[in-house]
Order: sequence, then C-alpha cells, then structure tokens
Amino acid sequence: MLHVLQHPLAVHAITHLRDETTKPATFRTLAYQLGLLLAVEATRDLPLEDKPIQTPLEKHTGRVLNHQPLVVVPILRAGLGMVQPFLDIFPDVSVGYVGLERDHTTAEARSYYCKLPPLAGCRVFVVDPMLATGGSAAQALALVKQHGAVAPRLVCIVAAPEGVAEVERQHPGTIVQTAALDRELNHKKYILPGLGDFGARLYGT
Ligand code: URA
Repeated sequence: MLHVLQHPLAVHAITHLRDETTKPATFRTLAYQLGLLLAVEATRDLPLEDKPIQTPLEKHTGRVLNHQPLVVVPILRAGLGMVQPFLDIFPDVSVGYVGLERDHTTAEARSYYCKLPPLAGCRVFVVDPMLATGGSAAQALALVKQHGAVAPRLVCIVAAPEGVAEVERQHPGTIVQTAALDRELNHKKYILPGLGDFGARLYGT
C-alpha cells in the first residue's frame, strides 16, 4: 500500500535534493525537512485517548496520544538521516538499528548489525531514504517482524516502482510512505531520475 506525500514543500525539497549542485549541508537540511513531513504523514493514524484537563476557564476533555511505544528503525547508513525528525516530534521514540550489506555471491541483503528493542506492541517505522530494489527494505521488515513487530511500516524519501513491488511481494499489505515515486532503476540499480547515492551526498563521502 503506497502513500506518496502530497505537499508543495515536499516537491520543492525533493527537487533541491535531486540537484547535483546541492552541497551536503543543504542536503542534510532538506533531508531533515522531508523527514519531518514524512514522520507527520506516516503517523497520521496514531491512536488517541481522552484526557480530562482544566483550562484557565473550564474543565475540558482533550485527547492525547495513547501509550503505544513508537520505534524508528533506520537501515544503516543512509537511514540515519531520517531519525532526527522522528526524535524531534516524538521525544519518547526508541531507535533500533539494522545494518545490511549486499552479499556479492547471492546478491541478497545480509544483516551485519542488528540492535533492536523488543518490538511486540510497538508501532514500528523502518526508515531508508532510497527504496531501490527493495531487497534491504524487505530484509529489514523481516528482521523487525522476527523481533515481534506487527505490521511495521516503511518510510522513504524516493521509491522506485521495482522496490515497491518487491516489498509488496515479500510483505503484502505493508504501508509504504514515500515523498516521491520515481520512474525506474538503471542497470546499476540506482533510481532514475533519483538523486544519486543518498549516503554519500548526506555525509559528503
Ligand atoms: N541507494 C541510493 O543511495 N541511491 C539510489 O539511487 C539507489 C539506492
């Protein structure tokens, strides 16, 4: 289930992210802004509960977020660029980490690092800015499910149709929130038009 962010600010930020002349400092700011918009959008259906309060004028029953723990799980390393926005708007969010690398013999994503809190009963967001082949995202979703996550969501900045299809094939019904749906992958599995190597541009490597 694919949700594409519909907001002029997101379109604006994505265009500047794609621009090859954008320097790492600006790239990080734009990635942060997009991360904020995505974090808001991806949590649009968080459950609320009643909270009786006293305003300066009268008693009132307001509504606040219920106590379901939120966990954000970046896929290393590019996913790190999407963590801060979640921390800034949800101060109690926990962070788990999944490090994946491509196994050159099987061409499949292999986990080299996995540090996850118990995820049963949590609302889990796997974050990875570039959903390309979908291999890493599918692997990360499998790992968080092994740690108890139910219906984890995937949040990315740019998605390729191939990646969306692969996630749907391996994890049917997964909600994927993206800021842009691009055209296709090239023969090196980069997204077109894309923005190049997100991690390299984020960290200036
Ligand atoms: N990862 C990236 O950083 N960029 C792509 O285009 C695909 C995967």
